[in-house]
Amino acid sequence: MMLPLPSSEIPLLNQDDRPCYLDSAATTLKPRAVIDRIAKFYAEENAPVHRGVYELSQRATDLYEQARKTVAVFAGADAGQLIFTKGTTEGLNIIARAWAEENLKVGDEIVVSPQEHHSNFTPWQEAARRTGATIRYAPLYPNGTLDLPGTLNLIGSKTRLVAMAHVSNVLGVENPVGEVFTAAKAAGALTVLDAAQSVPTRPVNMEELQCDALAFSAHKMLGPTGIGALVVNPELLDQMSTYQTGGGMIEQVSVESSTYLSGAAQYDAGTPNAAGAVGFAAACDHLNGVEYKNATGMAAVAAYELDWGKHAVELIRSIEGVRLIGPPEGGEVEGGIVALQIDGIHPHDLAVLLDAQGVMVRAGHHCTMPLHAHLSSGVKFPETSLRASAYIYNTLEDAERLADALRFAHKALNRTTVV
Ligand SMILES: Cc1ncc(COP(=O)(O)O)c(C=O)c1O
Repeated sequence: MMLPLPSSEIPLLNQDDRPCYLDSAATTLKPRAVIDRIAKFYAEENAPVHRGVYELSQRATDLYEQARKTVAVFAGADAGQLIFTKGTTEGLNIIARAWAEENLKVGDEIVVSPQEHHSNFTPWQEAARRTGATIRYAPLYPNGTLDLPGTLNLIGSKTRLVAMAHVSNVLGVENPVGEVFTAAKAAGALTVLDAAQSVPTRPVNMEELQCDALAFSAHKMLGPTGIGALVVNPELLDQMSTYQTGGGMIEQVSVESSTYLSGAAQYDAGTPNAAGAVGFAAACDHLNGVEYKNATGMAAVAAYELDWGKHAVELIRSIEGVRLIGPPEGGEVEGGIVALQIDGIHPHDLAVLLDAQGVMVRAGHHCTMPLHAHLSSGVKFPETSLRASAYIYNTLEDAERLADALRFAHKALNRTTVV
């Protein structure tokens, strides 16, 4: 299917007054194909997985395991490496609990930057608090991008874990993950990638990035909420301890002691979200089938997002008084995320006026308070911004609607009332 996806494919857009939804970095809309696939599971295939000998249950189990394979292949991994989670946040917390808290001790160091989403920040603060390990914060340039030489300088013999977002959910830029993780591996550290904004928007190669674990969410890539994936290299999987215990992940339970399954199956405690997994796989299939210019699949998604972002940024740059923070000052457009501040105007006020014009954007700190603190010196209403983020159903006209609505809102909020 050619990009952008037509409104007829996305029920929430398929209205006479087509909404301009620009909050896809938070969560994407869902295509009819994914919604129908989940409905079919509940209508025709629903049964508990890994628990029944009857045929319906066996079929549901097969669908769940097939979904694990589809999502793993989508992420360039084997099914045995994929743990289904609630989303990126849970994936990162699993590494923090099942590896970091079991393996770190006083004197060890974790390297993470203040650019991170809280999901890839607070789990490491907690792991440090519980183990006595120290966090070394990677330095940022004034525009929020990673100071690579400064970061490489922090990595040494005490470094045990380096965690980094592949793509910033505010700046929209790709971090130099390959360089940082190569240095981290050479120092013997574990490398953890927050791929919440990258797996949905571009091809990602775990091996090339020297990444031991990678987490992403289905709901940011056309799939359902409440499910995500943590992809772990096999050696790390062997070193991880249990995360949650209970039904479904046990080998043998007695009043004296219990033993658990090994590998990814150990992380399926409780009745798994089989409908979510099936919907997640349908979303991957949908993304694999898209086309744009001469590209297909995720290369097409990346090319489309880039073109949309370039168009939006060009339009927004022409609006007086706007300070773009994503793409960062002096940086290039790298995708479909545009973040900005207008001095003296609170982003919430702007966002409400945009909403009145049918344009939905995010306003606030976008779960990146340390980054906003870093970016906001000298700005009135600091530590917040307005973020518009596109996905493969947004048209270039959506970028024009955004720019027009912003111009209107800015003017309205600057108006002085004379009585
Ligand atoms: C970079 C990044 N990391 C992590 C997350 C957390 O994802 P989830 O809320 O799906 O767990 C997000 C969500 O916005 C994100 O953008």
